[in-house]
Amino acid sequence: MSAIVEVSKLVKRFGDLIAVDGVSFAIEQGELFGLLGPNGAGKTTTISMISCLIEPSAGSIAVDGSSVASAPGAVKSALGIVPQEIALYPTLTAAENLSFWGQMYGLAGSELKQAVADALELAGLADRAKERIEKYSGGMKRRVNIAAGILHKPKVLLMDEPTVGIDPQSRNHILETVKQLNASGMTVLYTSHYMEEVEYLCDRIAIMDHGQIIASGTLNELRNVVGGMDVVDVKVTDVSEGVLEDVRAIAGVKQADRTDSALQVLTPSSGSILGKLVATLESEGAHVTSVSVTEPNLESVFLHLTGKSLRD
Ligand SMILES: Nc1ncnc2c1ncn2[C@@H]1O[C@H](COP(=O)(O)OP(=O)(O)OP(=O)(O)O)[C@@H](O)[C@H]1O
Ligand SMILES: [Mg+2]
Repeated sequence: MSAIVEVSKLVKRFGDLIAVDGVSFAIEQGELFGLLGPNGAGKTTTISMISCLIEPSAGSIAVDGSSVASAPGAVKSALGIVPQEIALYPTLTAAENLSFWGQMYGLAGSELKQAVADALELAGLADRAKERIEKYSGGMKRRVNIAAGILHKPKVLLMDEPTVGIDPQSRNHILETVKQLNASGMTVLYTSHYMEEVEYLCDRIAIMDHGQIIASGTLNELRNVVGGMDVVDVKVTDVSEGVLEDVRAIAGVKQADRTDSALQVLTPSSGSILGKLVATLESEGAHVTSVSVTEPNLESVFLHLTGKSLRD
């Protein structure tokens, strides 16, 4: 199988800042590929170069066999783009907005009408099609944004953090829509900084940080980066930096880092350290509220590779 998206040694500099620093990956036809990374990792910059919106400083990109540098027209017609920022006219209705975007993609007449109806149906908004966008909730606007990206039935859909800041119901709807589109044969590049979404959706995942891909593979391959270790999550209050050092000094603790509300410890054998771990924390005045042992997830992989949390 040959790749439908091929990104090779891609670089983007903004003055002194290297936003994308030698990124390579290939997406096979029909894959749901995840690009996971924290704020400022370079996800949007990468997507913008694939979409021909900004020019790479170096490297090459091919979509469906066409080069972004030499055949941007062919690339654009193979792509559907769901941008991070909402791209809709607030005073027009959802149907009018979609009609506008459909015409931009070269659709007209009954084909355009059908495409708008199909996209509204997929977005779950067929019954609200005639309302102005300004009356829509944030989640509904995002769903229209997705509908706009798929009107021309692109081979490859690029989605840039489509669920940021929306209600759980719209979020679930969007995740199911992405699955459905992929199941119908569309190749999807899905960027997010929510590891749960990427774990749930994606066949293969590239983890990006500071402009570079620091690991890639299937979820299981990425879990192996943490190498057969248990992840111990300790919910704890009043942790000082000194406590972290003491935890790292416990025999059997491979790594210890702070996450949002917890302390995450990697160990080859959780059974042999739990007692000592809790005792160490409490003796330093920290208050342990819960302890759980899980298998590694993408958060622990990221923590293991970078020493920081995805949500810093
Ligand atoms: N037009 C620009 N000019 C200068 N710097 C830029 C520009 N666009 C992006 N950057 C910088 O490049 C880096 C990568 O930004 P980018 O938007 O690609 O990150 P991201 O992974 O999409 O982050 P987020 O999750 O916050 O959307 C950041 O440091 C950002 O400030
Ligand atoms: Mg972004």
